[in-house]
Amino acid sequence: MKTLFTKPIFPYVIGILLLIISTGIVLSQVIENYIVLIAVLLIEYIILMLLLLSIFDKYIKPIKKVTKTVDKIVKGNYRARIHHTGNSNVGELTHKINTLARNLSELSMNEQMQSEQLSTVFDNTESGLVLIDEKGYIHLVNRKFVSMFGKSQKEYKGYLYYDVLDNEIIHQTVQKTFLYEKNVKEAFTHFEGVDKYYLEIVGAPIFNERNMLKGAVLVLYDITELKKLELMRKDFVANVSHELKTPITSIKGFSETLLDGSMSDEIAIREFLGIIYNESHRLQLLIEDLLTLSRLEKEDFHLILTEVDMSSLVSELKPVIVHKAEQRKLELSIHVDENSILMADSERVKQIFINLLDNAINYTPEKGKISLVVSTAGDFIEIMVKDSGIGIEQEALSRIFERFYRVDKARSRNTGGTGLGLAIVKHIVEVHEGDIKIESEVNQGTTVYVYLPKQKQD
Ligand SMILES: Nc1ncnc2c1ncn2[C@@H]1O[C@H](COP(=O)(O)OP(=O)(O)O)[C@@H](O)[C@H]1O
Ligand SMILES: [Mg+2]
Repeated sequence: MKTLFTKPIFPYVIGILLLIISTGIVLSQVIENYIVLIAVLLIEYIILMLLLLSIFDKYIKPIKKVTKTVDKIVKGNYRARIHHTGNSNVGELTHKINTLARNLSELSMNEQMQSEQLSTVFDNTESGLVLIDEKGYIHLVNRKFVSMFGKSQKEYKGYLYYDVLDNEIIHQTVQKTFLYEKNVKEAFTHFEGVDKYYLEIVGAPIFNERNMLKGAVLVLYDITELKKLELMRKDFVANVSHELKTPITSIKGFSETLLDGSMSDEIAIREFLGIIYNESHRLQLLIEDLLTLSRLEKEDFHLILTEVDMSSLVSELKPVIVHKAEQRKLELSIHVDENSILMADSERVKQIFINLLDNAINYTPEKGKISLVVSTAGDFIEIMVKDSGIGIEQEALSRIFERFYRVDKARSRNTGGTGLGLAIVKHIVEVHEGDIKIESEVNQGTTVYVYLPKQKQD
């Protein structure tokens, strides 16, 4: 009975009452007996009410439910469903609306996934990206861009590009992209705090299906590493030329004097020839070192791996080392652990020993001590070369492996050094996937540790 007075059905009840009143008025002209009249009207009322309730339950109620659910779906709640188990037409309708909601839900999930994937790609690209619309408003900037230019993504989004980006080249790139409607490429340096970036910027226009300009995307490539490599290459060429120039100048000068023919002093002539010989020997050493380096750096360089027994390798080198140490009146001790065996390129490993021992001998004053110890350390073979020589200052230690870097140029030259010895050692260690460490104290001595893996992984 309560349903009769609830809102949705109330107007229909009123309608029925009005219908009964009007039937009552009409029938009162025909039926004179009031009791019969009331009975007829009561029966009519009951029949109509039963009819109304049945129609309400079957059609109106479910349609109200459907409307409510559709409202939720319209508002974006694709998980809303109608629970109605009728087999009527309304049942079919609810079933179809549920299917529609399910499809919408799948569609929105797919869309969400796609946009997540897109933003993941966008955010994790190694280049800075900025999306600008045709009016110049920034729509998107990615994480890399923020790391290059500071601020947060929010501080760019929705702003005009020239209000939030204070780089003239970027402004020009955007303007040119919009003006010429084609890709524009520029390069510039950018400072963020203490960091200096070399950046390349490409502006690419975006068109809609009707070929109308809709905006532009800016791609910023960080070419700092590339620039550094380029600078290093230029430095290297300059250094090589400089290193070659000195001996060649002196060879040329002395041979000119000799060719002049005016020298008669046998001793002086021999002295000049000696200088020419020494300088050409230095040139030879330098060129050999340069060739070694370039061979090690070749793309297709590969090691010739064999089983190397350190004891026999060291005994092969021993006579030369002993001779050099004796010449410089140095005390030399050598110890190689038995079973110091590894898979390595024996010629390269020899080069490590020669370069390190040469340094130890050259940079240790007379009566100093030098020791070489080869031992096993876990999966590695440790080579330790220790001297009691002049040592290296702390500031110079980090640069010691750079090509042509020498703490004392004159001293290195006098001992036949090229400034490439340690660079070569480091390279050899790296291609063997090993490690190198150096410890030094001025006037106390230097110790170099090299670790080479016993088994090199391919
Ligand atoms: N054992 C050492 N003691 C002191 N200084 C060293 C030692 N080894 C290397 N150095 C310093 O490192 C520089 C670079 O070494 P290296 O690459 O072998 O070139 P170089 O041809 O000059 O020996 C040397 O010029 C020297 O100043
Ligand atoms: Mg050297």
